[in-house]
Amino acid sequence: MKRLGVNIDHVATLRQQRKEGMPNLVDAAKMALKAGADGITIHLREDRRHIQDQDVFDIRSVAPYLNLEMASTDEMVGIALKAQPNACCLVPEKREELTTEGGLNVVQHVDSLKPRIQKIKEAGIKVSLFLDPSTAQLEAAAQLGADIVELHTGHYAQLSGTDRDKELYEIIKAADTAHQLGLTVHAGHGLDLSNVKDIAAIPVIEELNIGFSLVSRALFVGLETAIQEMKVLLV
Ligand code: PXP
Repeated sequence: MKRLGVNIDHVATLRQQRKEGMPNLVDAAKMALKAGADGITIHLREDRRHIQDQDVFDIRSVAPYLNLEMASTDEMVGIALKAQPNACCLVPEKREELTTEGGLNVVQHVDSLKPRIQKIKEAGIKVSLFLDPSTAQLEAAAQLGADIVELHTGHYAQLSGTDRDKELYEIIKAADTAHQLGLTVHAGHGLDLSNVKDIAAIPVIEELNIGFSLVSRALFVGLETAIQEMKVLLV
């Protein structure tokens, strides 16, 4: 059974439309955990469009396992050191994007990533890097001392037919390479009930992080059922 990290960013997206405190994010985190989530994932974006700084601390206090997604900046590292999540997942961030569009370019940003990764690790927080399925990126991640790589499944999720099969093959190869490099392998982005099975079938992948499809489905069946439906597929 894979671990399921439930990303509740979009509960906060809805809350930020009115800023009247509902839906309550801590209640959502508690309900996700009760429904079988193995951890809570949130992305504190630089523009604070959904998750707010205080949310990180509030959710930390109720989640036994918190994965904090963030850009690699000094500000975010400072917040992470204060909030002490179990893991920090470093992602590329562009203000104009609707959601994270691709993996981090570790090869290009080795010099700026190195001291930040070191600081996070020294605080006892695991470092995860969100990467496209590329051997060069995985090797750079291992050299930088990352604990985890989260393979970007967003492109896979958007493709169909033989194009999807090819991307799936790249993810399978990358997962094996990462495992051989001694990295813990996670995956996420764009996963839903219709496309998760092939990713969940990759033996070395230990955890999937899923948000948008779960929160969307929750509108119709409730958050607990949405999570339980997904968990059944993660065998
Ligand atoms: N993993 C990472 C690194 C992400 O940035 C996101 C989106 O915040 C997810 C997983 C979850 O993606 P989705 O919301 O499409 O399930």
